[in-house]
Amino acid sequence: MILMGPPGAGKGTQAKLLEARFRIPHVSSGEILRSAVCAKTELGLEARKYMERGELVPDGVLLGAVRDRLAAEDCRDGFVLDGFPRTVTQSKALGEMLSAAGKPLDHVVSIRVPVSEVVSRLSGRRTCRRCESPYHVAYSPPRRDAVCDKCGGELYQRSDDREETIRARLQAHERQTAPLIEAYREQGVLRDIDGSGSPQEVWARILHEVDA
Ligand code: AP5
Repeated sequence: MILMGPPGAGKGTQAKLLEARFRIPHVSSGEILRSAVCAKTELGLEARKYMERGELVPDGVLLGAVRDRLAAEDCRDGFVLDGFPRTVTQSKALGEMLSAAGKPLDHVVSIRVPVSEVVSRLSGRRTCRRCESPYHVAYSPPRRDAVCDKCGGELYQRSDDREETIRARLQAHERQTAPLIEAYREQGVLRDIDGSGSPQEVWARILHEVDA
């Protein structure tokens, strides 16, 4: 299953719910990249330059890491992709990985949210340093200030959640990823989900589509 949508649409929030409900791993290309940045690996050092500017990391830099992640044992019975694919090249590479593994693409869900809502969601987001669970200072605050409810990790503000970087990320989405969403629509596999309302309301809409 693929979750698509602009930055801040709620992909990570919903992917964590899908992971728990269907017992399949949540695979986030953003998380793969942030871990690499944190560990200062070759991938991380290269990716960081693009992430700080709100640009997409080049396909050739990212693809190997995603391929390795999807080949892991826990992905054998399926996975929820969050933030991947984002370009036509990535989508073709994913198609090849899936057919080589004999796996179908069951769902492509596009979460739609107005830009004004995205900016307010991202500027108030706090993320757990340990398990990457997303919180929001107003919409879904943690029980204890700056501490993750799930694992006790420290909450921090992502460096790309500043307003000027958010704008650049939205532009990258419009330019490079929106056409891909339309391509999935033309293939007849896309389901549009209204991403407004509470996370629980959005979750109910996704579940309704997936169950159908
Ligand atoms: P990535 O980590 O994928 O970020 P993104 O796509 O910009 O998406 P976000 O994580 O910002 O938002 P989300 O939709 O997951 O929303 P969330 O659930 O957290 O990518 C980061 C960077 O890595 C990219 O800019 C790029 O450089 C690089 N990259 C990653 N993948 C790549 C790829 N495939 N190719 C090339 N480069 C790549 O929610 C946001 C906030 O809103 C949270 O605070 C949450 O609590 C709150 N919230 C969620 N739902 C609701 C709701 N219904 N109501 C109110 N608040 C809500």
